[in-house]
Amino acid sequence: PSVVVLISGSGSNLQALLDAQEHDELGGDVVAVVSNTADAYGLVRAREAGIDAVVLPHTEYDSREAYDSALIKVIERHSPDLVVLAGFMRILTPLFVQYFFGRLLNIHPSLLPAWPGLGTHRKVLDAGESEHGASVHFVTETLDGGPVAIQAVANVLDGDDEASLQERVHTREHLIYPIAVRWALEGRLKLEGDVATLDGHAL
Ligand code: GRF
Repeated sequence: PSVVVLISGSGSNLQALLDAQEHDELGGDVVAVVSNTADAYGLVRAREAGIDAVVLPHTEYDSREAYDSALIKVIERHSPDLVVLAGFMRILTPLFVQYFFGRLLNIHPSLLPAWPGLGTHRKVLDAGESEHGASVHFVTETLDGGPVAIQAVANVLDGDDEASLQERVHTREHLIYPIAVRWALEGRLKLEGDVATLDGHAL
């Protein structure tokens, strides 16, 4: 089974997936990485792993629909079983979400449904929460609102700032994303209606 990973930045989650692949723990292969920005460091990570790395700049398209249509075409060159968003900082249109429905995962730095959207670490600190974390979820048309597949908790510690908290959450992201991708590629993790299931059981 194959995966296409979409990125916009550093790609540390991409690296976690590549490392899992290297150890035969991903359940399949990352066959291409697509970035909407040319300077995303994740492109370097992909090339170093010998994986096709494509830049598709959103600035060259007039509308989100036009961009997403082009993105579907680039992805479909590889006919992947799964599309994985790993720090892809663009809101996708219903067209794209419907096209890959049930085959599209995202990772979000919070314990969803708490704290959808951007700036989660700051929000968690400002709210005085004692727990934070990361979630992998199926993508639906509601931003960060699709059914959750797996989560990991990161405690908020005294003296944490945004940077320290982000780093702790990142370590959790790197643990759970390869697990979720493996489950999906093995056909164990599915989206059935609006429920995520693992081995046929609702999560
Ligand atoms: C991660 O925090 C992820 O949860 C969010 O974007 C960030 C991407 O980080 N969606 P990286 O590019 O994988 O290092």
